[in-house]
Amino acid sequence: MYSLFGYGKMIADRHRMNAYVKALENSIQPGSIVLDLGTGTGISAMLACQLGAERVYAIESNPAIIVAKSAVKDNDFTNKIELIQELSVNVNLPEKVDLMISDLRGILPFFQQHIPAIVDARSRFLKEGGIMIPLRDRLWGTLVCAPELYRTYSSPWQDFPYNLNLKSARRFVLNSWQRCRITPEQCLLKPQLLTTLNYPEISTPNFQARLEWEVEQDGLVHGLCLWFDAKLVEGVEFSNAPGEPDLIYGQAFFPWLESVAIAAGDRIICEIKANLIGEKYIWQWHSQVTHKGEIKANFQQSTFNAQLLNPEALKRRSPDYIPQLNEEGKIVHFILSTIANASDRERDLEAISRQCATIFPERFPTWESALNRVRDAIENYSL
Ligand SMILES: C[S@@+](CC[C@H](N)C(=O)[O-])C[C@H]1O[C@@H](n2cnc3c(N)ncnc32)[C@H](O)[C@@H]1O
Repeated sequence: MYSLFGYGKMIADRHRMNAYVKALENSIQPGSIVLDLGTGTGISAMLACQLGAERVYAIESNPAIIVAKSAVKDNDFTNKIELIQELSVNVNLPEKVDLMISDLRGILPFFQQHIPAIVDARSRFLKEGGIMIPLRDRLWGTLVCAPELYRTYSSPWQDFPYNLNLKSARRFVLNSWQRCRITPEQCLLKPQLLTTLNYPEISTPNFQARLEWEVEQDGLVHGLCLWFDAKLVEGVEFSNAPGEPDLIYGQAFFPWLESVAIAAGDRIICEIKANLIGEKYIWQWHSQVTHKGEIKANFQQSTFNAQLLNPEALKRRSPDYIPQLNEEGKIVHFILSTIANASDRERDLEAISRQCATIFPERFPTWESALNRVRDAIENYSL
């Protein structure tokens, strides 16, 4: 969940913002109807109005929309911007739009439900031939020499801190990836294109790619670095490539299980996959280094293996597992069934909390101690 601090950092990223402003300047016509998908604090919606949009539908699920509401009022755009606090997939609009603008990416464009949300909004809200900002993202990658960065991953777990063996954690950490800032000097091989996300056409949130290199110079590989560049509209682009001005996104570092010395004549193959499972991507990266057909290194890694799942938790995810409510589940069940079935008099927050305290006295010795639990359920599951 984004914080207000995070939204501030996005607005303060001049390179990102200048590109978005330019893209809007090139695209908005007087009278344009606009969708700002994931408006955050309302910045793109208000910029669209400044540039002559007739009406903007600004959708945002995060409570940051409260700030957008005040900003829209303070900037006199209340008659032009309709703010909708909801996930876009649950929204219907009264008309189709000429232009939709969004920036739902994380460090990479493969982030949470970013692509399904764009595909859904495009198909339901955008006029035939309407403008999409961004138009296209491309994913790039290369192998990097990054000893300092690699040490932050591995050293706490393999250097026997305080004479303790913490090695069991290492394999979890090395199956996860993080934001990084890589310099061009750290890139060992020519960057390659992994995939292109053409937003007017894209339909799947998943991708897989195979990268191959013939090594020409010796070096020490610590992992794979990925980044994206973006075309917002024709002629307006930015890039997160190492050496380009730093943007808020940065680059992503996928460590190898060990550092590997590569030499001229080696052949390297990296296969990378990202599959959206629920809200999260599972990333897999398989890396193989060979010399004249001999395998020098062969690593199979996946963010699935970074999950701290004990055997009991894994068993509970199996399709044939028959679940039962735990105490927390019984509390939520009680609260929700009271909301759904009780009379109005028995269903204000105090009444529900009093009943909760009677039924679960060990958990809630007083009705006041149940109130926050009831509030949480109300916030998540009620109108
Ligand atoms: C990276 S922020 C961008 C905020 C703002 N548009 C900007 O450019 O500064 C992405 C925002 O999109 C929102 N978001 C992501 N998917 C959404 C969806 N399907 N419906 C509504 N909001 C969504 C997130 O909550 C977040 O506030």
